[in-house]
Amino acid sequence: MTKKILVLAGDGIGPEIVTEAVKVIEVLKKDGLDVSLEDGLIGGASTDAYGEPLTEATLKQAKSADAILLGAVGGPKWESLDIAIRPEKGLLKIRAGLELFSNLRPAILYPQLADASTLKPEVVSGLDLMIVRELTGGIYFGQPRGVETMENGERRGFNTLVYTESEVERIARSAFEIAMKRSKKLCSVDKANVLECTEMWREVVESVAKDYPEVEVSHMYVDNAAMQLVRAPKQFDVMVTTNMFGDILSDAAAMLTGSIGMLPSASLDANGKGMYEPIHGSAPDIAGQGVANPLATILSVAMMLRYTLNEAAMADRVEKAVEKVLDQGLRTADIYSEGTTKVGTKEMGDAVVAAL
Ligand code: IPM
Ligand code: MG
Repeated sequence: MTKKILVLAGDGIGPEIVTEAVKVIEVLKKDGLDVSLEDGLIGGASTDAYGEPLTEATLKQAKSADAILLGAVGGPKWESLDIAIRPEKGLLKIRAGLELFSNLRPAILYPQLADASTLKPEVVSGLDLMIVRELTGGIYFGQPRGVETMENGERRGFNTLVYTESEVERIARSAFEIAMKRSKKLCSVDKANVLECTEMWREVVESVAKDYPEVEVSHMYVDNAAMQLVRAPKQFDVMVTTNMFGDILSDAAAMLTGSIGMLPSASLDANGKGMYEPIHGSAPDIAGQGVANPLATILSVAMMLRYTLNEAAMADRVEKAVEKVLDQGLRTADIYSEGTTKVGTKEMGDAVVAAL
């Protein structure tokens, strides 16, 4: 049966990079990939058109799709809006609305880009780690939240870190399953020495671990994990953590590779339906110039092929095509170094299509 992909290009460089990723999908369609594409608006683009960053109609469209390809959301134009209708809210609403609780954020150092990292080559060469971030719970969604004025006139801001056991259990299972397919090593990151909620997190991870005796499990406090990530990142294979810790650690991990413009992500529900997007943001400073790196979005298509469309061979093909253009020395500005050939967004997309 034809699978439906909803394309939400979003803001900033979103439309430019998504255009290149769609070209890749079109090539695969000619080779038998049975998908149909639809478009929709999210983020500031949706706020401009409809007054909110994600309409019920678009959410419904997303629910009926098999997979979603997302560019990026946000930009200075919308930063002064009320937090309830800022572009980021659209992203949070679609994550929650589709129950995309399992966020996979790989950090891979491409040998061709070894110079791009700010860390010494021996620290990062061969790096290939996977952060599994809980995406629909924790402090991002916990109630109560807000800012209130106290009797003395001073304001008081508050957010709540909350997880139920079942929420921890499902993300832990998701991470153990991934660990089983990789090197069977899992590090769970928490702040169990201070936060009760994450002390419970650790207990639940321990109990799920009993079902995966082959996986070597460790636990680490988040402050130490941040330090270890920059000190000796290759000690990790799969890491699992809360929504906010995952937000922070995945940016750090991305930068180990020196090229956030290269990293894709998948956000999955319990049935393998997923939203796929580059880890980087909407980069408003370079939007519209045709210089953004489309490779993270193209690699997000590869993740979509692997995790939702069950087309592992096609996923391999896309990943190999990306490596080939890197081997050819083609680089967008964000990964450019002397001796390589600087290309724009479209040329990079065309090169991947040619390599395919
Ligand atoms: C991310 C982003 C989002 C997050 C923002 C844009 C809401 O930083 O996907 O990591 O905090 O989850
Ligand atoms: Mg983030």
